[in-house]
Amino acid sequence: MLQKENILIVDDDINILELIQRNLQSLDYHTYKAVSVKEAVSILRDTEIDLLITDLKMPEVDGFQLIQFASEHYPNMPKLVVTGYPSVQDALSAIKSGAVDYLVKPFTKDELRQSVLKSLSTRTKKKPSEKAESKNYNEIIGESEAIKSVTQIIDRVKDNKATIFISGESGTGKELVARSIHYNGKFSREPFIAVNCGGIPENLLESELFGYVKGAFTGANDTREGFFQAANGGTIFLDEIGNAPLSVQSRLLRVLQEKEVMKVGERKAEKIDVRVIAATNSNLKEMIAKETFREDLYYRLTVVEIVVPPLRDRKGDIPLLADKFLFKYGNEYKDRYITIEPEAQALLKRYDWPGNIRELENVIQRAVIMCDRTIGVKDLPENLKYKIDFPEENLMSLKAMEKKYIEKVLAATHNNQSKAAEILNIDRKTLRGKIKGS
Ligand SMILES: Nc1ncnc2c1ncn2[C@@H]1O[C@H](COP(=O)(O)OP(=O)(O)OP(=O)(O)O)[C@@H](O)[C@H]1O
Ligand SMILES: [Mg+2]
Repeated sequence: MLQKENILIVDDDINILELIQRNLQSLDYHTYKAVSVKEAVSILRDTEIDLLITDLKMPEVDGFQLIQFASEHYPNMPKLVVTGYPSVQDALSAIKSGAVDYLVKPFTKDELRQSVLKSLSTRTKKKPSEKAESKNYNEIIGESEAIKSVTQIIDRVKDNKATIFISGESGTGKELVARSIHYNGKFSREPFIAVNCGGIPENLLESELFGYVKGAFTGANDTREGFFQAANGGTIFLDEIGNAPLSVQSRLLRVLQEKEVMKVGERKAEKIDVRVIAATNSNLKEMIAKETFREDLYYRLTVVEIVVPPLRDRKGDIPLLADKFLFKYGNEYKDRYITIEPEAQALLKRYDWPGNIRELENVIQRAVIMCDRTIGVKDLPENLKYKIDFPEENLMSLKAMEKKYIEKVLAATHNNQSKAAEILNIDRKTLRGKIKGS
């Protein structure tokens, strides 16, 4: 006898939707229906679903994006694709984006039953030992040690409400880390509210965050909740916390210390249960020295610190990340999987990526648009091809500088000593001497 498992069916064609539903119900499954991805996402958020069955081609948001969303947020839930447009390319893309199996319309009830059984059997059984193992954060791509130490911290903090501080250069993935903490943890069904403290005018930030009461200031015509009240039970992500003015900082300190908020213009505090995750790419220590950031708040915020490494410190992850974006933009712009030539791939790995993952994503997005089927060197921006970055922040001796420069040129020429000697305008013997001597 089959257990009543929850299956969510997504198709914009009501007839198909009902057909699949009837078949599954007769097989004793419990079914949920959605005619759009938007509807599906809200069901996924509210219900424990054991299997997702989705169509690919749908108006507005398509099934590929639903599968990707589901893979990111519900990695253990199997996904079965049902489509009326069979093509190898679609099948490949669907499977690459995280679908487990693939069923072509029209199908018989028995074919449907087989596929459902097969998909459900891939579910990872919850073993008692599972908790001890490191969780797989599908959305955070990377196998480097640097990124692993980030996911290890996520493991430890995701199920409690400790305050977390995320630092790292622009574009390294701070927001992604914050979202992963929330959506992989125990409180994932509670709200996640992201607030960009740099994006809201200073004079409004306070009332936006904490709410206000009628008459608190000119224009406050009624009493309103703030982001904190909206995030109650879940997580508030305070991005660019360095931009919060001192008035906001002292209110924030109160939230962290007393676990209560006070609306602007209100005297009574309300209890609140929110996990605070703050992030910045500015140097708060310097701001403390200049007295623009409260030191006591800094210590309250940094209960757990996560430093997201710059991409240049984990270049080994570049091919994996590039692959993710090739897939994403291949689907979006070309309806197919775009590949990349080895020479172009080598350039990606050589470059220092001052804009980090966001820059890599932009470069690949642009290259996918420019190329035919394969990204070549010609599709990459000029600064990637010729630029040799130099660490300007460190003053160094001429000799150290020479050594660094030789290393850069060698890397740029893939260790071709003749080419390097030519660029340096010295002969090969001198170059070899310098390499040995250095
Ligand atoms: N490890 C990763 N795997 C896959 N995608 C990533 C990873 N890290 C970041 N990204 C992607 O890179 C982009 C930039 O990430 P995000 O917005 O989280 O960076 P950020 O550190 O918040 O940047 P900023 O300081 O500029 O706000 C996003 O599209 C994000 O999905
Ligand atoms: Mg950000």
